[in-house]
Amino acid sequence: MAAPAEGYITDVSYIPGFYPNMAPVAMRYVATLNRVKPPAVSQGFRYLELGCGLGRALTTLAAANPQGEFVGVDVNPEHTAIVEKEIAAGQLSNARVLTADFGQLPNDLGQFEFIALHGVFSWVSQDVRDQILAIAKERLAPGGLLLVSYNAMPGWAHLQPIRGILRQYAALRQGDSLQRMRDALAYLVYIRDKQAKYFIDNPRAAAYVDGLLKQDVRYLAHEYLNEHWTSFYFSDVAGMFGTAGLAFVGSLPVFTNFWDLCVRPEFQELFRTTSNRLVTEAHKDFCANTAFRWDVYAKAPQVMPEVADRLREADDFYFHVSRPGITLPYQVNLGVVTSTVQGPVYQALLDALSAGSLRLSELAAVKELAGTPPADLARAVDAGVAMGLFDVAAGPVISQSAHVSATVSLASPFNRAILATDALGGRPVALASGTTGTGHSLGDFDAAILHELLEQGSAGLVARVDERLAKSGRSLQKEGKPVADAAERLQLVEQACDAFVKTSLPQLVRLGIVTKA
Ligand SMILES: C[S@@+](CC[C@H](N)C(=O)[O-])C[C@H]1O[C@@H](n2cnc3c(N)ncnc32)[C@H](O)[C@@H]1O
Repeated sequence: MAAPAEGYITDVSYIPGFYPNMAPVAMRYVATLNRVKPPAVSQGFRYLELGCGLGRALTTLAAANPQGEFVGVDVNPEHTAIVEKEIAAGQLSNARVLTADFGQLPNDLGQFEFIALHGVFSWVSQDVRDQILAIAKERLAPGGLLLVSYNAMPGWAHLQPIRGILRQYAALRQGDSLQRMRDALAYLVYIRDKQAKYFIDNPRAAAYVDGLLKQDVRYLAHEYLNEHWTSFYFSDVAGMFGTAGLAFVGSLPVFTNFWDLCVRPEFQELFRTTSNRLVTEAHKDFCANTAFRWDVYAKAPQVMPEVADRLREADDFYFHVSRPGITLPYQVNLGVVTSTVQGPVYQALLDALSAGSLRLSELAAVKELAGTPPADLARAVDAGVAMGLFDVAAGPVISQSAHVSATVSLASPFNRAILATDALGGRPVALASGTTGTGHSLGDFDAAILHELLEQGSAGLVARVDERLAKSGRSLQKEGKPVADAAERLQLVEQACDAFVKTSLPQLVRLGIVTKA
């Protein structure tokens, strides 16, 4: 058994979570839209996750990418035991997990086209960060991509004192990390409600406390009780990975690569006149008050200066309309700026992609788009993805089916295992798609409806889901209040089943998760 990581809590297990930003298709797409050649994946690839926790990202991505080899590392044996169980239940022969400290990885681990670490970099000591940087330097294959997430400045500036007070108060208390976290939260609410001057001077921090109360205490313990906790400026992190020989490529979600979607028009002059991304990222974080970043770095990146290079080297992304019913003009606000999508190019893209997914070269050949210069076309497609009109998939996605018969099945053993354990579990359930190369989240109640549909078909579906709901003790909400009346609950269940079969089920069929029997 590996020694517990110095300063990192191990007495409380973390919570499972799937994050689409960690998918190879997402990392590859960020590289591509930033003109960096992504690693090829069709003939296989290797993916390393550092600090995989309960491993839901690792297992979901392994199920969605059978041609890849996935290796997770975590120091906490309770975490890795759970990952091992889920690997076995999902019959994932392409995934494994190592119980190890980052400083003790086996020498023969080899190199990886992808390395990802989410929820780790801000929460470990500088010594552990140095170990991570050494792994990045040695284990990332040339041309490979690394994804790192971290708490960012300046968004964390007014919240850092909250972390400080939680940790200091928890240290005074008895019990395990969960109990100490609960006590610390109660104290935080007390000083907020009694109007400690910090909260009067920082009203956003006062409101933030309400958000904390809605979170899982296990998450809060891992977020706030570790000895080492740092929020970084982008330039700090770029500097550290720079010393490991990695170059900044871009960030996730996709819209964060478009400064005009993140920065109000009055600040945009700097971005128009400065091409140094290391400078513009820092200004963008200030203008958008960024509190969390997902950054992609590359080792020995090969630049694709022209769209022709992209069409030659990275034309394996399938673009499709993200959901039915999108019409132009389409307005979107991604936090700071409201943008409007309109015009003939976007209309032609919507029309072309409504019929099914297409690659960039296929879009360029569509009659209505043939006159659009390739660079403008690529920009419109990428901006459409950034604004949520289109999604990107690793493989072809079929067009929207108007109706799906209720006789359906789930091909992937991983998805069957997840659905059996997580439906009605109180958190979203991500199912793997071998078509898109990533996971797609359902609400836990929708997951229960799908599970019932698969187990026993559509006859009596509403009554079965209602019975399951009643047994689980989980309540449905109406106008923010739990529904206690049985007849009213049954009516809500009926509406939910109807909406699921009409809307979510066809989407799951399109994504290749559910197959029509
Ligand atoms: C906040 S959790 C994030 C887990 C997972 N990536 C997620 O987002 O769900 C951080 C994980 O890093 C692991 N960890 C911390 N320090 C480590 C070290 N030095 N070596 C290996 N794993 C470590 C912890 O055990 C924990 O599971």
